[in-house]
Amino acid sequence: MKQLRIDLGERSYDILIGPGLLDQTGEEAGKRIPGRRAVVVTHPRIRQLYGTQVMYSLEQSGFETFCIEIPEGETSKTIKEAERVFDFLIDSQCNRRSILVALGGGVIGDLTGFVASTFMRGIPFIQIPTTLLSQVDSSVGGKTAVNHPKGKNLIGAFYQPRLVLIDTNSLTTLPEDEYRAGLAEVIKYGIIADPALFDFLIQNSEKILNRDETCLEHLIETSCSIKAQVVERDETESEYRMILNFGHTLGHAVEALTDYSKYKHGEAVAIGMVFAAKLSRESGLCSDKVVTQIKNLVAKMKLPADLPKLETRDLIEAMYLDKKAIEKKIKFVLVRGIGEIEFVDTISESLLQKVLEN
Ligand code: GLY
Repeated sequence: MKQLRIDLGERSYDILIGPGLLDQTGEEAGKRIPGRRAVVVTHPRIRQLYGTQVMYSLEQSGFETFCIEIPEGETSKTIKEAERVFDFLIDSQCNRRSILVALGGGVIGDLTGFVASTFMRGIPFIQIPTTLLSQVDSSVGGKTAVNHPKGKNLIGAFYQPRLVLIDTNSLTTLPEDEYRAGLAEVIKYGIIADPALFDFLIQNSEKILNRDETCLEHLIETSCSIKAQVVERDETESEYRMILNFGHTLGHAVEALTDYSKYKHGEAVAIGMVFAAKLSRESGLCSDKVVTQIKNLVAKMKLPADLPKLETRDLIEAMYLDKKAIEKKIKFVLVRGIGEIEFVDTISESLLQKVLEN
């Protein structure tokens, strides 16, 4: 088992990574949290695959367990579903000594974290991410949220979990498109912070696409360690944490304009990363070589690189809705070279238009 620590003073916690860790849920949670009642929040497919294993482990360590299911998919990340979880917690007589266990992907993690941050003014929760994307990104760092009809993640809080437990075996049941979408976030870490990771992805693409266990542990550990460093430096995203948003400004716009149904988040991020690279080149920040390197790696991992047919005006308007846009200025995370990032909020609309239309 690999162990990383996010150092945030009294909000510090461990990230455990390895095969078969689900069986240690109770032991690892029990060591860190005094609660005695554990409510597992998951969706039906994941409950069927891993629910019994996780609840059995919690019970073996003395937890009384409950489980609530949330329908699968982004459309469940709502205040309404959160309210259903609140009702369940109240009906199950949960209190401040109860803990929540998020068992699933990003939707489950974000929603569970949001409920944990507000139920009785905050109760402990642990993250057990079962998708690659949530293992390398959303389960770490304490961003919790639900969506609003007007935009993604508009209602939420920074609220750190007490433990992140990553069982790499859970990736064996992950659908192919979900797996590749997770790889987009790993590519992102290479671009923003780690040329060696970027090279590793190029050199080992076949093995990685075949879910080689050793490669996966390396990718997850490296990604989580980069994320930990970013979150430790800027937990609540005053600026530096925005580095994690490389490729996301356009990615979020593409997701919103295609009703969150055409692309997985990671696929939209892949399109967004190629766009961000082109925008960097057109702004004079990076060479054409960098754009080609990023495009080639995205293609190697069988991720989309090209924008779908969407109105340029709609894309620009959607980017203005990004949470990082302030007073009609979109803050872009651009690239100077692999591992070298720059924040830029002076991109003109005409340049945006040019890059979006080419
Ligand atoms: N997923 C971006 C962040 O955690 O800041």
